[in-house]
Amino acid sequence: MEHQEGKAISRRRFLKTGVGSIGGIMGVAYLGLIGDYFNPPPVGSEPLAEVGKVDDFSPGTPKLVAYTSGGVEQGVYVINLGDEGWIALDFHCTHLQCAVNWLDATKSFACPCHGGMYDIKGNVLGGPPPRPLEHRVIQIQGNSVIVGGMSV
Ligand code: FES
Repeated sequence: MEHQEGKAISRRRFLKTGVGSIGGIMGVAYLGLIGDYFNPPPVGSEPLAEVGKVDDFSPGTPKLVAYTSGGVEQGVYVINLGDEGWIALDFHCTHLQCAVNWLDATKSFACPCHGGMYDIKGNVLGGPPPRPLEHRVIQIQGNSVIVGGMSV
């Protein structure tokens, strides 16, 4: 009998310790998430990647390129604006994240999901998108086109 009580106490203590440990781990994980929310990584801190040479991008024609950042494949439109410089736009619609397509005929980006439209600089022309396409960091280094994390 005493032996069984010892087991019951031991089991109870085990459960208390186990539940307490799991709660502690979850608490630390939540604190990490809260910390990331209030102190996000710096803008543009993602690694940069070369996505082509300057001559690969015709002025006025956005080109969708893919690159890997932090082990995740990313897609951006690289746009050579001629005298106005270069921009890189995330290819996700700002409404519900569908992939937008460049339409040469209308010189605009179109979202196939709900009809969102953007101009060549990513500004909203119509439809439900609440804001312009997200800009990415872009650099021209010599003859190389380099893109990376979110831009301001
Ligand atoms: S996801 Fe693009 S318009 Fe809705």
